[in-house]
Parts: sequence; C-alpha cells; structure tokens
Amino acid sequence: MNNKKIILITGWTGYIGSHWVIAFEKAWYKTVIVDNLSNSSLETLNWIEKILGYKPDFFEVDLRDKEKLEEIFENYSFDWVIHFAWLKAVWESCEKPLQYFDNNIIWSLKLFELMEKFGVKNIVFSSSATVYAPENSSPLVETMTTWNTSNPYWRTKFLIENILEDLANFSGFRVVNLRYFNPIWAHKSWEIWENPEWIPNNLLPFIMKVATGKLKELKVFGNDYDTIDWTWVRDYIDVVDLIDGHLKAYEKISPLSAFQASFPPREKENEWIFETYNLWVGKWISVLKMIKETEKIILKKIDYKIVERRAWDLAEVYCNPEKAFKELWWKAGISLKESLENSFKFYNK
Ligand SMILES: NC(=O)c1ccc[n+]([C@@H]2O[C@H](COP(=O)([O-])OP(=O)(O)OC[C@H]3O[C@@H](n4cnc5c(N)ncnc54)[C@H](O)[C@@H]3O)[C@@H](O)[C@H]2O)c1
Repeated sequence: MNNKKIILITGWTGYIGSHWVIAFEKAWYKTVIVDNLSNSSLETLNWIEKILGYKPDFFEVDLRDKEKLEEIFENYSFDWVIHFAWLKAVWESCEKPLQYFDNNIIWSLKLFELMEKFGVKNIVFSSSATVYAPENSSPLVETMTTWNTSNPYWRTKFLIENILEDLANFSGFRVVNLRYFNPIWAHKSWEIWENPEWIPNNLLPFIMKVATGKLKELKVFGNDYDTIDWTWVRDYIDVVDLIDGHLKAYEKISPLSAFQASFPPREKENEWIFETYNLWVGKWISVLKMIKETEKIILKKIDYKIVERRAWDLAEVYCNPEKAFKELWWKAGISLKESLENSFKFYNK
C-alpha cells in the first residue's frame, strides 16, 4: 500500500471521475479525491465502497478554498493530478458566464499554484472537443485550430488548455491534454452511471430516461442540419474506454507507472510535456439513428419531438483518434450495442 503512486483527483464523485476512481484503485494506485458535491452526491462514495470493499480518501472541499486544499497537499505526496472538477452545462454558462469564468478558471489556477508549490507537475487535464474552432470540418485532428468557441463553458476549456501549455513551457509541467465529447453509459457491473435528476443536456441520458418512462418524450434539437438525415451527428465513446484512455495517457507522463512494461522507454525522462490527444471512437452516428439503435435494444418505440435548434450545436462533430492509437497504444473497443445494453440495464432498475 505504501509504495503505491498517489493521485489527486478533483471532481471525482461526478460521472467520469467516479469511474476513474474505481479503475485506478483497481489498477494499484491510491487515489485521494476532492469534490464540493455541487453536481454529485455522497451516495457515490457508498457505491464505490461497495465495489472496492473500502472507502478511498475523500475530502469535501471546494477548489476555491486554497487553505483546505493546501492541507491536503501537505498530507500526501502526490505523484500527479487528474483535473475533472468543472461546471459543464453549456446553457447555464450562457446564463451565468462570470460564474463559469470564476469557477472553472480561478479554481484551476489555485490548483496549479499548489501543484507548483509542492512540486507536483504531472497533470492529466480533462478537456473537450468543444475547443475546436467551429470552422473546422470533422473528422477533427489535434493540429486543427482551436478558439472562436461559441459559449463560456467551451471558452473556459480553451483558456485552461492554453494556460497549461504555458505552464509546461515555462514551469516544467508535464501535461496530457485529453479532448473528448459525448462519453456514454457505464461499467457493466458497477452501480454508477450518468443519471442527472433534471432533464439531461446530453442525448443518451435523455433517450434512456424516455426509454424507461421517466420522461415522456425526447426533444430532438433541429432537423435542418446538412447531414445524412438532417439531425446532427456525433461520436460517442463508452466511459469505460474513456477511462482506459486516461490510464494510457498517464503512462505518457509518468514513466514508472504500473503500465510501464507495455511501453517503449522514453528518450528523456524529465522533460516537460504538453501533448493533446483526441479520445474518441472515430465513428459517427446521427440523433435519429441513435434513437433507432436504442429501440432495437429495448424493443420499444422512443417518442420524440423535433424542436428548435440550440444555438451552440454544430452539424457534425467527430474525430480522428489515430494519434492516441499510435502514441498511447489506445483504441476504443466497446461497441455501441454493448454500451446501449449496459446503460439500459441500469436505467431500467
Ligand atoms: N460528460 C461529458 O460529456 C464531458 C465531455 C467532455 C469533457 N468533459 C469534462 O470532464 C470532466 C468531468 O465531467 P463529468 O461529466 O464527470 O461532470 P460531473 O459534473 O458529473 O462531475 C464534475 C464534478 O466536479 C465537482 N465540482 C464542480 N465544481 C467544483 C469545485 N469548485 N470544487 C470541487 N469540486 C467541484 C462536481 O460536484 C462534480 O462531482 C469535466 O471537466 C467536463 O468538462 C465532460
């Protein structure tokens, strides 16, 4: 236990973070987790305890509370940080931009200050494909332009990506910047999944809530896009594949990780790194096709209504995941069918 590498995880009780904690504890890391529970609940900790047989070290802390966070840095010798904590609702960011700038940017800076102070310079940043400029055509590749984002949530990701790149260049940080979009579903035997109490912003939880009778009908935002069936197309990645991609990304910055054996030795061990990877499947599907695929699994019709477009939705967003495949030896392997089956099982409980 003592020589396990210790990881600080921010935003862990959230959807992606909770899957991450379990995967990492199972992969022989010790995780120390902080969350202010603004978009999650302590119930997740109980589920995680059931799955692991013990409770990971958890601190209910808001990242803006630098003193409390500093105490945590004093008590643990972190090897690296994974930064998930974020406010992430696009519509809300348009209503409260200053809150999003304050929360997402200021609390990230406080975290980075402490990382610098305590010499913890390895970080995996949970970014988003939303940073790509809307003018880019899919499939998106990492070298395409970012900027020109259309709402405050997306802009906060763009700004922190750029700040991290400067910290790598000028303060010796080692950063793996992961861009993803539309993670879906849940691990098949873990009792955690994306289950917002409100009407979901994301398509898949919305479909499942309608499929299981928790919501009456699905809203399809626009059917006048220039796409195969006039509804937008996206690339969906199973959250379990996504977490596996994070594990491989960590290997990139930490040469002595548990996965070292499978990687060739690096040329220079202590150089700074700022490297970006798309973590996506590389396959696209339209909204209407996703509804049909779900109907095939659940064997009933999903009621939907076409409504106005949302201001920020682009017609086509999918990516080329080739770089992650070549450099991280990572590829998404879970089929859409399997993801849908796993999800329906949970939502139907
Ligand atoms: N889910 C997606 O579709 C998606 C896509 C791309 C990127 N991301 C990014 O992945 C990360 C995790 O997303 P998620 O879907 O798990 O979100 P989530 O809302 O489920 O989890 C975020 C967690 O951060 C916590 N948090 C928020 N502000 C905090 C603060 N000031 N201090 C401490 N904790 C705080 C929340 O309580 C929540 O538990 C986010 O950075 C998000 O922007 C998500």
